[in-house]
Amino acid sequence: MITLQDKNILVTGASQGIGREIAISASKLGATVTIVGRNVKKLQETISLLSGNGHKMQAVDLSNAADIDELISQSLPYDGVIFNAGIVEYLPVKFLNESKINAVFSVNFDSNVVLSQKLIKKKLLNKKASLVFISSISSKLGVGGTAMYAASKAALISFSKVLATELAPQGIRSNSICPGIVKTAMTEQANDAASEEELKKAELEYPLGYGEPSDVAGLVMYLLSDMSKWMTGSDLIIDGGFTLK
Ligand SMILES: NC(=O)c1ccc[n+]([C@@H]2O[C@H](COP(=O)([O-])OP(=O)(O)OC[C@H]3O[C@@H](n4cnc5c(N)ncnc54)[C@H](OP(=O)(O)O)[C@@H]3O)[C@@H](O)[C@H]2O)c1
Repeated sequence: MITLQDKNILVTGASQGIGREIAISASKLGATVTIVGRNVKKLQETISLLSGNGHKMQAVDLSNAADIDELISQSLPYDGVIFNAGIVEYLPVKFLNESKINAVFSVNFDSNVVLSQKLIKKKLLNKKASLVFISSISSKLGVGGTAMYAASKAALISFSKVLATELAPQGIRSNSICPGIVKTAMTEQANDAASEEELKKAELEYPLGYGEPSDVAGLVMYLLSDMSKWMTGSDLIIDGGFTLK
């Protein structure tokens, strides 16, 4: 049985979507959860959906170093951290500029590097802690218009692997997950431009259909738990069979 009893877990980007579902699932398995994001109202909604007591929320803009420092100053040592917050920007390479590159990388990559480094330096990761980085199947593909998103998510996988090596002596594990399309606000935003017919056709590329946030949360629960204690440096695809073809 998977249990997260007595574990203190931090989830970034938990105001909605996959992060919210991860926080809910972790609380159901007995964890005490700290959730962060920018939208206070949505964070409160997530808190109201958690099982058990003692959970915390903090308004944090991860692209702002001072906000990350504030989070660190309020933190107790964690047994698990889910680096889930992310943004997507669809733009052909010829339209990219420095500010657009920085906007995506600062949330999807830089913030995760800064946060994990500060957690390590301040000794805020307990022995045998589990770090989980939410990457994307985009990191393995070459879909037009996704250059910065895909590159930031690929960078995250490499970062997670190096951390896995550096933190193994303390028994701390680091793994990344590459979801295919999961039904959330992020994918709704991407689908705005497509017709109903195009959307149905696109989902047929997924042998098991599009995913739900709970599909990703289930895998995260395994990685957070001691059942995955021999697993580190892995990069796991969860995509309903999309990449079988
Ligand atoms: N949905 C998919 O199909 C899919 C597929 C592969 C990978 N992913 C990845 O899975 C993760 C979650 O995606 P989702 O679909 O659940 O997206 P979502 O519904 O758009 O949620 C994104 C979360 O990230 C937070 N966030 C964004 N910018 C932030 C910032 N500057 N500071 C703090 N928090 C920030 C948002 O919170 P606030 O708005 O409150 O700040 C929100 O809680 C992302 O990393 C995404 O790239 C998603």
